Amino acid sequence: MSTPHIAAAPGEIAPIVLFPGDPLRAKWIAETFLDDAVLYSQTRGMLGFTGTWQGHRVSVQGSGMGQPSMSIYANELFDQYDVQTVVRVGSCGGLTERVGMRDIIIANGACTDSGINRVRFQGLDYAPVADFGLLRAAVEASETMSLASAVHVGLLFSSDQFYTTRPELNDPFIAHGALGVEMETSALYTLAAYRQRRALSICTVSDHLVTHEATTAQEREQTFGDMIEIALRAATA
Ligand code: HPA
Repeated sequence: MSTPHIAAAPGEIAPIVLFPGDPLRAKWIAETFLDDAVLYSQTRGMLGFTGTWQGHRVSVQGSGMGQPSMSIYANELFDQYDVQTVVRVGSCGGLTERVGMRDIIIANGACTDSGINRVRFQGLDYAPVADFGLLRAAVEASETMSLASAVHVGLLFSSDQFYTTRPELNDPFIAHGALGVEMETSALYTLAAYRQRRALSICTVSDHLVTHEATTAQEREQTFGDMIEIALRAATA
């Protein structure tokens, strides 16, 4: 069996999935953190691998950028492959000076400018939140690790547009606590809730909308490593 977008046989994907946007980041995570990683799908170049981490079967699946692409993979992982736990490991833009470059944001919830949930909830407002057990495990894991950067628990703003002509629309979200902007978490939390699965988003601040700093590729790799370790520990706790 395969799905329209994932060419894996039943059982080839583990119940735990790490979910980066970038398929090459999925490859890097599989090669760097997993033992015996096997490529199970490369449909549309959206690589997926399964291996083990400290004896636990874990898969890493690229999601693509944005809620529509991510939702295709999340739906198929939940519905066709019976995935139980998904941890997004991504990057985000810092929205406030409360967060610094390379800091890690563990998202307890996500707001959005997307029409996806507006259609799903017929114009009413749903509050997409993280699985509390995963959130707690991620925080506890981060407290036992010696990390290069600060860890924050707070809101992400899941935007549908990377290049927006109306940046002022970020302001009310910032005024109400949003720490970072990315493009996937709101839909991920919603889909996981609908299927009664566990989801968490962890993002590293890769660029900053206030200070206009940006990370080098090498810096992103190092801090991404801390984030992956937190994600693996939380997902397998
Ligand atoms: N905007 C949206 N998504 C992002 C950003 C950003 O500035 N940085 C990383 N992901």
